[in-house]
Amino acid sequence: MKIFTSVNDVTNIDEIVNEALMLKKAPYSFSHLGKNKTLGMVFMNPSLRTRLSTQKAGMNLGMNTMVMNLDKDGWALEMNEGVVMNGTTVEHVKDVAAVMSQYCDIIAIRCFAQMKNKEADYSEMILNQFIKYSTVPIVSMEGSTLHPLQSLADVITMRENWTKKTKPKVVLTWGPHIKPIAQAVANSFSEWMLKTDVDFTITHPEGYELSEDFTKGAKIVYNQQEALIDADFVYIKNWSCYNDYAKILCADSNWMLTNKKLEVTNNAKIMHCLPVRRNLEVSDEVLDGANSLIYQQANNRLFSAQAVLKKILETNTF
Ligand code: CP
Repeated sequence: MKIFTSVNDVTNIDEIVNEALMLKKAPYSFSHLGKNKTLGMVFMNPSLRTRLSTQKAGMNLGMNTMVMNLDKDGWALEMNEGVVMNGTTVEHVKDVAAVMSQYCDIIAIRCFAQMKNKEADYSEMILNQFIKYSTVPIVSMEGSTLHPLQSLADVITMRENWTKKTKPKVVLTWGPHIKPIAQAVANSFSEWMLKTDVDFTITHPEGYELSEDFTKGAKIVYNQQEALIDADFVYIKNWSCYNDYAKILCADSNWMLTNKKLEVTNNAKIMHCLPVRRNLEVSDEVLDGANSLIYQQANNRLFSAQAVLKKILETNTF
């Protein structure tokens, strides 16, 4: 594995989930693998879970880790090719990626969507420029369109909570929010669900359709209550419009997930990637209830990252 930016970079989902579960049982059993190797972590945006879990994953594998808040501590970045840099940007991404490759054996990057221009965001320019100009493996810690480390942690968590032979019904439901939130988590969860043996439904208000690039094959139901019937897992997440890009068309608090709504489910387990706006997207009673998996998901972020870093360390020559 040279890059990890989407489910398509994983050859066998079951295998990497098993690997993560093995690491969860024995987190330090491969601490020799990363000896004298450096993980460079680049952040263009805030993070709690991704930063701490990925750094700890590297440390569990014996890696040295360095964190660079490029948005605050780096020079203003130029992304476009061939431009005369006589404006506000100071350093070209090609130089940043090439220079970081001198110090790091693996580079992990967080670079959110700017939420202004759909084409620009969906081109994943920052991530792709790093892939183009670095000489070391690249891991996405959430790009403009996808959040694969989160989705892998979600799949691990579902595996731990589903021992039946039958396919679980998984519902991704939109929840209200006051700000335009990127589609990355929802896109990514959909992409992974569609490659996993589940019965997958997405429910959202009309106008909130996600890109078919990530959701083709999912069942779309506009009535949330109908979608929730017999659900085994309910993943709640807000996203802003993809088609009418970054717009908020609905602020209807009736879409907030509550225990009352969940009565029609099959005693569903509840998932959210966090951070969550409590009592806006989903009620406290749901998040703090017995069926909530939110902290187990956060815990599994560590083993998701550790499984990916282990795979990269094992399959590349350094
Ligand atoms: N879920 C997640 O990616 O959390 P952070 O944004 O805090 O890293």
